[in-house]
Amino acid sequence: MPGARLKHIMFNWRSELTKRPKVLIVLLIIIGVILWCSSHEKVLSLRERLIAVPCENTESKSLIEDVCKLYERRETMGELCEPLCRKQNIHFSQCLNYKRGKHVISVQCQGHCVEKKTVPAVLKMARLNGAHLTKHLQEAGRELMIKISPKVDPNTLDLHEYSITSESLSVLTSNYLNDEYGYFAREDQDLLSMVWGEDYAEMFRGPHTNLAFARTYWALLKQNEFRISRVFGEWEVFPKIYSFCGPMYLAQHSPPFKSLDALFPFLSSEFPSWKSRAQLAIQILELVQRMDTMEHPLHLCDTKSPHFGFTPQGQVRFIDSDTVFADEALSRIMSSQVCGSDEDCMFYDCEGSCNVQTGKCVEMRTNNNLQVVCAKVFRGPTLAAYGGLLTSPPKAVAAKLTALVAECATETTKDISGIQSRKPSQDTLLRLQRYLLESLNENRTKH
Ligand SMILES: Nc1ncnc2c1ncn2[C@@H]1O[C@H](COP(=O)(O)OP(=O)(O)O)[C@@H](O)[C@H]1O
Ligand SMILES: [Mg+2]
Repeated sequence: MPGARLKHIMFNWRSELTKRPKVLIVLLIIIGVILWCSSHEKVLSLRERLIAVPCENTESKSLIEDVCKLYERRETMGELCEPLCRKQNIHFSQCLNYKRGKHVISVQCQGHCVEKKTVPAVLKMARLNGAHLTKHLQEAGRELMIKISPKVDPNTLDLHEYSITSESLSVLTSNYLNDEYGYFAREDQDLLSMVWGEDYAEMFRGPHTNLAFARTYWALLKQNEFRISRVFGEWEVFPKIYSFCGPMYLAQHSPPFKSLDALFPFLSSEFPSWKSRAQLAIQILELVQRMDTMEHPLHLCDTKSPHFGFTPQGQVRFIDSDTVFADEALSRIMSSQVCGSDEDCMFYDCEGSCNVQTGKCVEMRTNNNLQVVCAKVFRGPTLAAYGGLLTSPPKAVAAKLTALVAECATETTKDISGIQSRKPSQDTLLRLQRYLLESLNENRTKH
């Protein structure tokens, strides 16, 4: 009997391994090396988590000190500078991220974020890859001068005396946003106020702004997360940005579900009940729908459960928008890629197609936000860290929901030019929402 033979072989193997622990160790090492060298996406994400080094509070504190030193020397500015550096209204709690990621610092915000209240918030800033903050701002100033007045030598300029017209800064912003998002300002719209905030006009009345201001503005505008959160602020898809000091900005506290942030969420004792997971999934689907139907639809190219956070009011927000792009920017990224196969055209979770004749990626994305959410957030359990939000649904909907999630994650279609894509439709999204609501009603009638 094949079953008995298999058992026999397994038994022999096991006794062999217990007799010789060295064999076991070698075997484990071999498996480890295979996993380590694998380029499979799930293994990669797991490996990243295993080797990630947590940030250090001392480094975060000294970064805040550096920002404040620049402010004291009037070399940078922003509405956050007074409360952060002088009034001591922003109290450091801890740094949150891994060493290679952005700076993310948890703070208590006293009276500045919400009037008369102390609320949690996060300070965020792109990592400078070893450069000092002073150098970083100098570089931003230099870049700006090359764009605005290429004939002027930026090294000879006085930061406080040299002025840039707000008009040229506005034109530069308009071109930038147009390139990135196909964004056209409305006739009455003041782009500088939209990016900098309401105090712009107050601080810089008149046609000129000094270089210390302009370079802070530029260093902020160049951070994708800051820019996209400001430009699409009214859509309420990203955490609100309260204010900034230099290139460091203060964002609304919207932490992800703690247990979903774990390496193996399903093993966590805090893994949420079906009710909370289904409600979260419904909110994520609503967010995806909003992103797709915006005037400038946005592509979430780095999607995972810890990137969906909650505001104190319980609304879901996408908290890591560094790799969120509008059509224009993503098309540019994709079409600039050289390729031999479709795999070379992947930009994080945004998949593309390779035109083997030209050796260039086609500029169009071949999957969509819903597909990635189904594949990476809803489906599971797998080897991957995170994911598996819709694992083990209640019996009444289990079969159809699991089948629909699988279809949403994997179904492939081919267009007339032979390009394969994975783009589940709006109808799939609505069906997913319906099944999830059904599962909640089912739960309610049972209890
Ligand atoms: N607005 C926020 N509120 C609360 N926690 C946040 C917020 N933004 C980020 N975090 C925490 O910091 C982590 C890293 O932030 P993220 O923006 O994803 O940085 P990175 O770009 O380095 O991945 C998140 O997974 C989350 O735990
Ligand atoms: Mg992140």
